Amino acid sequence: MAATTKTATLTFNGKTIELPVHSPTVGPDVIDIRKLYAQGDVFTYDPGFTSTAACESAITYIDGDAGELLHRGYPIEQLAEKSHFLEVCYLLLYGELPTAAQIEDFETRVTRHTMVHEQMHNFFRGFRRDAHPMATMVGVVGAMSAFYHDSTDINDPWQREVAAIRMIAKVPTIAAMAYKYSIGQPFIYPRNDLDYASNFLRMCFAVPAEEYEVDPILSRAMDRIMMLHADHEQNASTSTVRLAGSSGANPFACIAAGIACLWGPAHGGANQACLEMLREIGTVDRIPEYIKRAKDKDDPFRLMGFGHRVYKNFDPRAKVMKQSADEVLALLGIENNPTLQVAKELERIALEDDYFVSKKLYPNVDFYSGIILDAMGFPTSMFTPIFALSRTVGWISQWKEMIGDQAQKIGRPRQLYVGETRREYIEVENR
Ligand code: CMC
Repeated sequence: MAATTKTATLTFNGKTIELPVHSPTVGPDVIDIRKLYAQGDVFTYDPGFTSTAACESAITYIDGDAGELLHRGYPIEQLAEKSHFLEVCYLLLYGELPTAAQIEDFETRVTRHTMVHEQMHNFFRGFRRDAHPMATMVGVVGAMSAFYHDSTDINDPWQREVAAIRMIAKVPTIAAMAYKYSIGQPFIYPRNDLDYASNFLRMCFAVPAEEYEVDPILSRAMDRIMMLHADHEQNASTSTVRLAGSSGANPFACIAAGIACLWGPAHGGANQACLEMLREIGTVDRIPEYIKRAKDKDDPFRLMGFGHRVYKNFDPRAKVMKQSADEVLALLGIENNPTLQVAKELERIALEDDYFVSKKLYPNVDFYSGIILDAMGFPTSMFTPIFALSRTVGWISQWKEMIGDQAQKIGRPRQLYVGETRREYIEVENR
């Protein structure tokens, strides 16, 4: 538990209530209102949880004003440059960077779990051919609880561990299968001699008739995309996973709930929406029209890939992603593609525009990731599944932390009721 050395005093309705204040290792103090209702007969109101911490966590820290993101204390820029995705997975799950022996053991365990139960192939075939891969993923990841009974007991630490490894290993396989199914190609089995990112690329782009040679620069870019999406503290999908898990639901069901929440365009679905928006804009001369629409209060349109609930300076992931986009496009010789021209000009105009500057709306991680994934050959429908497979480790790390936290209870927010007060039933003939 965080240190508790201060108190806050709330005076309301003639009562004075002393509330403990917890000091985190870094970041603003947190007023503990758990006893508020019992002592003051009053609730707090905070839609969107803009000022409310729902848990204690030691995994990820974000300083939105400074544009800082730390995983277990390590800055994302250093991890993106020096680490690799499976090492970041280990760090998030277990709290420390692994030794050489620990990472070797971890990689072996993950690699040995990458195949899915053969009967799951039949499960895929139940989906419509043109199903969005996210729809398939929500269903298939949830269905893992029907295939892996021996890792659904949340009270058994060994089963929790196996479920974690299984999900990190199998969710990329499921995402690739969802893609293959959607384009009518046969599933490609994982290959254990490839690294995690290369294996995923191959499962998406190889066909039985022709092997896919993974370019190391593309594999490194894919690995970086995975690292940059691995965790982001208590965002909407992670909070969904925690809320689902707080009832004691099995881990596969909880991660499926997280995938469902991620799908929305305000969250992980923004990468698909952003690229589609860039294509819709089409040419640089049409940008002012879209900027105008984004500012219009009567138009629901928003510039996708801009803005963030927490980052009010810049998104550190976007900085690394932008650099990666430049590398990939240079490698593929497509620096001048029209979508990229629109993206660059849109970024330039938005960063100078008063509306965006005053509201602190900067390009976020989704603004650049789609450009890289598009260049790699992924259709827009695969962008959010790739976010989901990368975030799986974050969700499962947060879920494991929650299960081990004695202070956690079933999540059950209160409400500010504005409906009718009690009234008597009216017979139909009298209405
Ligand atoms: N385009 C135009 N105006 C915007 C945008 C945008 N992208 N984002 C926020 N605003 C305006 C908004 O209209 C509001 O104006 P006002 O104060 O005059 O009412 C102000 O900025 C604050 O917006 P908000 O909706 O209260 O902010 P929020 O913290 O609730 O929302 C957000 C954050 C990311 C949902 C929002 O910025 C957004 O919808 N962005 C586009 C979608 C997107 O790129 N999402 C990916 C987020 S990063 C990856 C992830 O976490 O999944």
